[in-house]
Amino acid sequence: MNRWFSDARDWFQTAKYGLFLHWGIYAVGAWHEQHQYRKRLSRPEYEPFMHHFNPVDFDPDRWLDIAEAAGMRYLVITTKHIDGFCMWDSALTDYKITNTPYGRDTLAMLAEACHRRGMPLCLYYSFVDHHHPNYPNEGRAHELPGPQPGDEPDLDRYLDYVRGQIRELCTNYGPIHGIWWDARRFEKDDPSLNAMIHELQPAAVINSRGLDPGDVVVYERDYDKEIHSMPAFTVATEACQAIGQQSWGYREGEDYFTVKFLIQSIDRILAKGGNYLLNVGPTAKGCIAPNEAEILRRIGDWYQRVGEAFAAEAVPGLTDNRQVLTTRRGNTVYAHLHEVTGDGLVLHPIRQLPDRVVLLNDGRELTARLDDLPIYHREEGPCLHIPRLPVEEMQNEVMVLRLDFPAAL
Ligand code: GLC
Repeated sequence: MNRWFSDARDWFQTAKYGLFLHWGIYAVGAWHEQHQYRKRLSRPEYEPFMHHFNPVDFDPDRWLDIAEAAGMRYLVITTKHIDGFCMWDSALTDYKITNTPYGRDTLAMLAEACHRRGMPLCLYYSFVDHHHPNYPNEGRAHELPGPQPGDEPDLDRYLDYVRGQIRELCTNYGPIHGIWWDARRFEKDDPSLNAMIHELQPAAVINSRGLDPGDVVVYERDYDKEIHSMPAFTVATEACQAIGQQSWGYREGEDYFTVKFLIQSIDRILAKGGNYLLNVGPTAKGCIAPNEAEILRRIGDWYQRVGEAFAAEAVPGLTDNRQVLTTRRGNTVYAHLHEVTGDGLVLHPIRQLPDRVVLLNDGRELTARLDDLPIYHREEGPCLHIPRLPVEEMQNEVMVLRLDFPAAL
């Protein structure tokens, strides 16, 4: 398989599927990670949330149990979202986790568990900051409407703060596998920031929302329609998606995407060679809510049954059947079936008969034939046809077939 980096960052390509966690004092409101912004709260109205943040049930091993059981192979957690609250014991601010009633450094606890269990840990960090006096809040997307009393907007000084905080995160918590930048609202390139991360943490994979293009292009949810028309990714790519339809942080009474929709979304990205981050927002008590853990478990159940197909390489163009994405390892081809509209599958123009076709979803063998098909009457020779797919049984999953060919296609 191609390597994107050929260095310590290559863990990223084999990890593929990860858990995204939006966790901060906004969980107290149980509404949205942008609680302050979306409810237009002033600092004095929002910031006291920190005095109610006491995640007494936080147990990082429990989170890791859930992630591992779901087949997830890395974690990305918010260290500072747009509210500016810091979920680690930063020496550069008082607006931080160790000044809540909980009093402990939750990032240190999580990092310890991740290192002990060999789970790569990446850190989300927002440039937009509603708290820091030097951040130039100007009413752009996700910003406060303007500077607040006492603020001294100064982008350079703010970026010194960012640099100092990223240095802390890349120095005090052992191996860090990535920095996940977000919410950059100003025009300023500065490759020295990512260079510092790479120097401190050689395995860190940095996303494309920082002050230079970074290591991996990030797409959000399925909003970026261009992702659908790409046959396969030609650069390291990561898509992220929340299980909740409304929020990334914990929301009481959240509306959820269907497991089927999420499975289709995950399969589409992974089959094209990308990575996928699926997000849940832990509660103010520090738990992943049981119904949300159950969604991860159900997706993970599918993921682990078909997972070998993602350890293969994206090979667009093997078939002109546009309902199918293909991956390949050696003589084995995996067909990922999207938009299934009938129970027969034709992989035109493949004219080789596989020795075996296995439906990875449940391990059953399917019959394959080389057939002369009426729709291809203008062509010479039969092509590969797999009739009688169990479409009714598999309605809620993406079917993935393994086709073992006697020779390379
Ligand atoms: C969306 C949300 C933001 C979240 C981000 C993750 O932009 O609005 O709060 O952090 O997605 O990519």
